[in-house]
Amino acid sequence: MDPFLNSEPLSKSADHNHQLYIETVGCQMNMLDSELVVGAMRGGNYELTDDIGAADTILFNTCSVREHAEHKIYSQLGRIKYSKRTRPNLVIGVMGCMAQKDQEIIFERAPHVDIVVGTGQLAEIPRLIDETRENRQRQMAVSLGRRDGSRTQVAGSFESYDPLRDPEMRPSPYQAFVRIMIGCDKFCTYCVVPMTRGPEQSRSPSQITSEVRTLAGQGVKEVTLLGQTVNSYRHIEDGKEYRLADLLELIHDTDGIERIKFVTNYPKDMTLDLLQAVRDLPKVSRYLHVPAQSGCDEVLARMKRGYTVSDYREMMQRIHETVPDAAVSSDFIVGFCGETEESFELSMNLIREFRFKNSFIFKYSERPGTKADGLWPDDIPDDVKRRRNNEMLALQNEVSEEDNAEFIGREVEVLVEGLSKASEKRLAANPEAEDCHGDDASHKTQLVGRTDCDRIVVFDGNPRLAGSLTHIAVHDCSATTLLGSIVTRQLNHGLQVDLPVVS
Ligand code: 5AD
Ligand code: SF4
Repeated sequence: MDPFLNSEPLSKSADHNHQLYIETVGCQMNMLDSELVVGAMRGGNYELTDDIGAADTILFNTCSVREHAEHKIYSQLGRIKYSKRTRPNLVIGVMGCMAQKDQEIIFERAPHVDIVVGTGQLAEIPRLIDETRENRQRQMAVSLGRRDGSRTQVAGSFESYDPLRDPEMRPSPYQAFVRIMIGCDKFCTYCVVPMTRGPEQSRSPSQITSEVRTLAGQGVKEVTLLGQTVNSYRHIEDGKEYRLADLLELIHDTDGIERIKFVTNYPKDMTLDLLQAVRDLPKVSRYLHVPAQSGCDEVLARMKRGYTVSDYREMMQRIHETVPDAAVSSDFIVGFCGETEESFELSMNLIREFRFKNSFIFKYSERPGTKADGLWPDDIPDDVKRRRNNEMLALQNEVSEEDNAEFIGREVEVLVEGLSKASEKRLAANPEAEDCHGDDASHKTQLVGRTDCDRIVVFDGNPRLAGSLTHIAVHDCSATTLLGSIVTRQLNHGLQVDLPVVS
């Protein structure tokens, strides 16, 4: 059951007598889960704190995709192992992918943990925390393992968690993630996600469109549709089958929504009808994240990705023919079992050939329970993985820098997200500086926005521009960022003149 339409509005109690600290690692799906859990807790008598030492409830939202992410959580847990000596009322919880994967092991490795809650049981968290504080007994809520029942039984034990939002809890008032599906059935041999997030299940179009309308009513301008393989979306409602292209069309009609993005795509499901929807629907971002993972057919076969380099090339041709201005980004794994120097060079060639806007590059991390772990040794030494990672990163940066330079001298439209990281840091160091943003409309500070093809643009402007679409003249770039200034349009004797604002 999807609780979105059925849940009561969250009523906020003025009397916040509990302090919740939450730490999140991992993907956008985890960020959304944390936002929703915090929203639900604040609906009770919890208030968020960023001081772990002041909290009476500590939650870790975890990731298992790479071993490093798990180590990070276990060492954070280690640091608070004696906290209950001074705070006997403290409740410590581990939620998310590592909770689903490790289950009892978490209690064994960190006996001070009180609750373990998997990705499919997040709605249980507020109740489990209250009960634990009352009876001081450990609690665990996890879903079935992939082999612990029929597909329907296992799927039923993973519930999509989509309660009504607390608008204050969104990282940005203008942007929101919307989950359209959970789980994954692709079973790439290196990946733990099909185990930690369960079978692929798509939410119904009516629930998704209703959530988007609610968000638009709260001032959201940009929605990012989330799914592990978002373009595999498939749901039958009232006898009609809906795919992602249909969903984009439905959402496109929502008043107030100006941009729609979707991540992450599976190459085999990048169909022509989806690309035509991206081409024909002006609010849909011309940005496609389609991880290639490797440029070597043998490695792709061992990864069980289900496509060859030539299939991926055909997909890229389809993208460029249908949406010529689309920006494509990728993920790569380096040092996968048996990856030779030649295989690695083939991956480098893929970056040279397709000139991805950017790539996320990961060193292979052996994950217990995956096919690769059972079949092949993790035989590439760490120093080789590191070197390949650095070489690939350097190549991708070169490509990104060169392609970003093409924008210099051009004008782009950005959705303004708010203060840039540098401005945020300055503000944190000197909070009084914020006061002058209030009424002084001429005050400028460094802002950040994104183009339709997801390029980050930094420029000076008034923070009040956040949430608006603004034109920027680009005058410089780095591998990750375009730098520019706001273009103001002025009518002069009936003639339109573009004036870049000099900062
Ligand atoms: N080791 C390294 N990277 C991995 N990814 C998934 N599983 C692993 C693993 N075991 C990467 C893939 C995926 C991204 C989210 O994480 O590139 O696209
Ligand atoms: Fe993991 Fe492959 Fe599913 Fe992506 S498609 S989540 S890499 S199993």
